[in-house]
Amino acid sequence: MSFRKKTLRHLDPAGKRVLTRVDFNVPLKDGQVADDTRIVASLPTVRYLIEKRARLVLLSHLGRPEGKPDPRYSLRPVATRLERLLRSPVAFATDCVGPEAEGLARSLADGGVLMLENLRFHAEEEKNDAAFAARLAALGELYVNDAFGTAHRAHASTEALARRVKPAVAGFLMQKELEYLGRALDEPRRPFVAILGGAKISGKIEVLGALLGKVDRLLVGGAMMFTFLLAQGRPTGRSRVEEDRIEVARSILERAASAGIDLVLPVDCVATTAADGSAPWRVVRVDALGPEEMGVDIGPETVALFTAKLRDAGTVLWNGPMGVFEVEAFAAGTLGVAQALAEATSRGAITVVGGGDSAAAVQRAGLTERLSHLSTGGGASLEFLEGKVLPGVAALDDA
Ligand code: 3PG
Repeated sequence: MSFRKKTLRHLDPAGKRVLTRVDFNVPLKDGQVADDTRIVASLPTVRYLIEKRARLVLLSHLGRPEGKPDPRYSLRPVATRLERLLRSPVAFATDCVGPEAEGLARSLADGGVLMLENLRFHAEEEKNDAAFAARLAALGELYVNDAFGTAHRAHASTEALARRVKPAVAGFLMQKELEYLGRALDEPRRPFVAILGGAKISGKIEVLGALLGKVDRLLVGGAMMFTFLLAQGRPTGRSRVEEDRIEVARSILERAASAGIDLVLPVDCVATTAADGSAPWRVVRVDALGPEEMGVDIGPETVALFTAKLRDAGTVLWNGPMGVFEVEAFAAGTLGVAQALAEATSRGAITVVGGGDSAAAVQRAGLTERLSHLSTGGGASLEFLEGKVLPGVAALDDA
């Protein structure tokens, strides 16, 4: 699949103020950036524009401050981190619209960078408000969207602004994300294996449905597995199941069987009576889960089974942890799958990890460099895999 949107390469940004939407929605701790993955991921776009002597106006949201200023969600610590990463000054506007931002944008030198305060300090941002987009538009002449993580939101800075300021093009991160995810879905090297985990089927049901038509194998872990096991009539003890999704799980099992897709469920799991790790735990066959026990991770035999199912994989797509990986004792399944993906990559497979928890697990395992692509988008990558149109992408100029 060739990329169908205009990109940075179509832009002549020298001396122009470029409104650059990034997703710097990063975790903060004690007033500092706790994880700068998303900032680092946009550096190729930022550096390219600086080299081209553009005047950068960076726009982002941070958290969900509900439409009013809230110092806990200020982007100032992010501007400070960016300054350190770039080793050059980043100006900061305390409001993303209005006279201060306009003055600072106008006084930018060629190659200069200005970061605006949190867009979501204005309720109009999430309302995709045209008048608010017009106020943002006053700050620049060209538009770049590098915020893949926010591309599933039709907000003023991702949608209305892109329709208003032309040209409106994709940044390098946006392009890379869409190319990796798009290629995995549309022209996968086979066998194409998807691994889905996470707590809920309900959040993943559309993805499961969409992937059934594309994959050769589907491996299911995480709490979601127990709804499938229950649908097969097996004991699930006090594991987290979604009673109202049992029928859905059953129909997915049937669809997979009739389409000849190898849908693989765990054979063993880690069982305990407390998901926070405060009670003893043991490894059991999934059929042997006691009535008071809950499954909190896939077991070692399942890790070996999943690893074997990846051995000849051409493409692997992974979304959602295999267990409660935040608890050390229940992280082995998730880390084992991350390791299996790294090994598949070494054998030549294309391996793509949908953002959020599974990407965090890969980072924790120190395997980031060993996979083909780690998405910076959680919700955005899921919606993309479901086959939905992402409004932030749709609004960009066609190539
Ligand atoms: C994300 O972290 O998924 C994006 O930055 C979007 O954030 P949101 O879910 O608050 O819209």
